[in-house]
Amino acid sequence: MARYPSDDQPVGDLRAARAEREPENGELFERLGELRRAEKLQALVYRHMAARAEAAGEVELAHRFHGLHADEQHHLSRLTARMLELGANPADLSTLQAPPASLDDWQEIVRTSEAAEIDRYRSLDRSDLDEVTRSLVDEILSVEERHAQELGGKWTVA
Ligand SMILES: [Fe+2]
Ligand SMILES: [Fe+2]
Repeated sequence: MARYPSDDQPVGDLRAARAEREPENGELFERLGELRRAEKLQALVYRHMAARAEAAGEVELAHRFHGLHADEQHHLSRLTARMLELGANPADLSTLQAPPASLDDWQEIVRTSEAAEIDRYRSLDRSDLDEVTRSLVDEILSVEERHAQELGGKWTVA
């Protein structure tokens, strides 16, 4: 009778193999976790600003913030998916709250926020990253650069 491949590897061995991998991935998971948390906060700020712009009847400004919000939300989702693929257990971010942000200086807020995002992705040590994670980080970085240039978003099409 055919045996499943897993029959050859008792659960104890699998656990040991996973425990062996954890120290090397621990730092990567921590870094991806920090990026994920930052994206969540950024998404919350833009969602908050979109709501304020709508309440003020500023349709175009609201549209701008909805675009930025959609991109940051997409970054968050992609980082979460990558962490799951790597076997990490992403933290629950549902209780995070956006810091207050005013519409008066919205350009300065977007500029500062995007500069911080660019800095986070540029300063990440690429040598620690596997190829898939590296290309994800580079893709996100190019969208952040576009955010900084245009002070707007929705550059992510899929
Ligand atoms: Fe982002
Ligand atoms: Fe951004």
